[in-house]
Amino acid sequence: MKNNRICQMLDIKYPIIEGGMAYVGNGSLAAAVSNGGGFGQIGSAGRTPGNFEEEILIAVNQTEFPFGVNLPISEHSDNTPYINIIEKHKEKIKAISISSGNPLPFIPIFREMGIITMILTSTVKHAEKAEKAGGDIIICEGYEAGGYNGGAELTTFALVPQITQKVNIPVIAAGGISNGEGMIAAMSLGADGVQMGTRFVATTECVAHENYKQLLIQSRDDDTTILTRSMGGVMRVIKSDYVTKIQETLQNDSTPETVLPYISGAINKKAAIEGDLLNGWVNAGQGVGLIKTIESAEQIVGNIINEANNAIEKLNLIKFA
Ligand SMILES: Cc1cc2nc3c(=O)[nH]c(=O)nc-3n(C[C@H](O)[C@H](O)[C@H](O)COP(=O)(O)O)c2cc1C
Repeated sequence: MKNNRICQMLDIKYPIIEGGMAYVGNGSLAAAVSNGGGFGQIGSAGRTPGNFEEEILIAVNQTEFPFGVNLPISEHSDNTPYINIIEKHKEKIKAISISSGNPLPFIPIFREMGIITMILTSTVKHAEKAEKAGGDIIICEGYEAGGYNGGAELTTFALVPQITQKVNIPVIAAGGISNGEGMIAAMSLGADGVQMGTRFVATTECVAHENYKQLLIQSRDDDTTILTRSMGGVMRVIKSDYVTKIQETLQNDSTPETVLPYISGAINKKAAIEGDLLNGWVNAGQGVGLIKTIESAEQIVGNIINEANNAIEKLNLIKFA
């Protein structure tokens, strides 16, 4: 897309970003999104530094197009080994999304490496702070999003225009967007592009277990819920008996000590990677009801662009007197 700030900055064809994803944001998936003209990202949450590097090398081998990585700060007891790996491969990593914690000390580190910083925020205040601190792009994530999100509980529809009015750097909208119509809606609100997570789990390249992918394509609009609000943010997952049990257990006792064993990555991995949906939970956003196929991520980027172009044509028919 000509004249699109995200496409120009990231050197990509379409402003469609694959969100960083714990466990399921693997190298082949990132490469497929980038091969389709979007921007793939390799998640570092749930990975050892060694495994993170392996996935980066897979992406390097599978695409010649730009891709990025995700660093959820508070997910790692020590971020240094991950930062060292990013520095080692800085020539290949175009951008990094920074989430789950205070990004301000990390922005100069990646700037110094020549890597574009994309800061996840879910309030205007944090977006303004990130811009002031030298962040290059804001990823503004609404409450509809799959996975862990800030505690402000603002919807994408309400949040995007309030952030785009207050910052000058480009803004990517995330949360509940699963198709081209959603993309155009977000861009009408002022976003320069979109980030999607859940849509890219239901793809052939994603390492998520088949049970998880099937669950996504069977899920409807009201099949997600907030697993817990007790850790300062919210975690959106697919409803299940296991999830109800956790919610009931944590209702009266939600200290970090009691909550952590239930929401730990190990439980997520059990379901998302091993397919045990009876003893684990899986992340999904509220746009899950729109996901009806498991296809190549490369193809999905193409589908989203076709849907977006159709949506623009429909809008062209509307003219207010
Ligand atoms: C399975 C899954 C895992 C996620 N893990 C992370 C993560 O590790 N770091 C992060 O910044 N965001 C994470 N997210 C959020 C996504 O990057 C993205 O912003 C979000 O999925 C957008 O909302 P959507 O799922 O409605 O498309 C995750 C989302 C999903 C669905």
